[in-house]
Amino acid sequence: MTESFDGDWLDLREPFDAAARDGGLAAALARALPQRPRILDLGAGTGSLLRWLGHYVGRAQAWTLVDADAGLIERAFATVADRAEAVGWPATWPGRRTLLVHAPHGAWRVEGLVADLREAPENLPLHQVDAVVNTALCDLVSEAWVERMAAACAAHRLPFYAALNVTGRERFSPPHPADALVARGFARDQRRDKGFGGLALGARAPAAIAAAFEARGYEVLRAPSDWLIPRRAARMAAALADGHAGAAMRHERPGARRIARWMLDRAAQAREARLSVRVGHADLLALPPGKAGTRQG
Ligand SMILES: C[S@@+](CC[C@H](N)C(=O)[O-])C[C@H]1O[C@@H](n2cnc3c(N)ncnc32)[C@H](O)[C@@H]1O
Repeated sequence: MTESFDGDWLDLREPFDAAARDGGLAAALARALPQRPRILDLGAGTGSLLRWLGHYVGRAQAWTLVDADAGLIERAFATVADRAEAVGWPATWPGRRTLLVHAPHGAWRVEGLVADLREAPENLPLHQVDAVVNTALCDLVSEAWVERMAAACAAHRLPFYAALNVTGRERFSPPHPADALVARGFARDQRRDKGFGGLALGARAPAAIAAAFEARGYEVLRAPSDWLIPRRAARMAAALADGHAGAAMRHERPGARRIARWMLDRAAQAREARLSVRVGHADLLALPPGKAGTRQG
């Protein structure tokens, strides 16, 4: 079974993701791409990476959104079209499964691919793209999966961009006596096997991606991309606390009452706009030899 993700949660986190991702790495990726790049977005969800990275690419571009959840891909198409039209960029449908966003500096072509990434890279059209990208995906996958992906990218000399990988450093403020218990349970949940051929990487994702691509001669750039959730963002803070508590509960049964208390206290703090959260993330950009900072026509 694949892990399922709620579209409303992905929408809620989108502005925080956008504020957190590192623009320098995005610009470096854009420079390394050809004139009209074809970009493969793994675990694309509702398309939040396209809506952010597309502006850095800033020219005609073609995206293939890959996800196991056909409903999320449909929602991605609707959201991309709505947001484009909201800023005055017409969206047209040249085919039933193709969306064209007529951006001022060149059209963005968007297609979807429903595929199970547990079977990747064999089921991906790597020979037809110029880069493989993803956001909030690689902490779900296993080390073996990253190794296979790195080998496949290297065979096609493709850049690999992975944004928002958790680093395991989280801080809920103000402090609470059960913080360490919740953090330990949450970290254990992040290593749970998510079906990608071994334990999920969790906070080991940045190191594993860097090692796999550096071993194949890639230059790996890394930048922090922490979520900074201010007290006024009560819904996001409450959702994070809820998610942490639920995950911790699965692994810390003897501490269940303390975790439940933590959850109630955090929910009350969020309602009163007294809860802020910092969640450590890192962005990575792996560029094949000779691609750093170039643009090929
Ligand atoms: C944390 S969400 C991130 C979504 C999106 N990239 C974003 O940041 O909004 C992970 C995404 O990976 C997808 N996913 C999880 N396991 C998958 C699998 N085995 N095959 C394909 N997609 C998968 C989920 O459906 C979900 O959209």
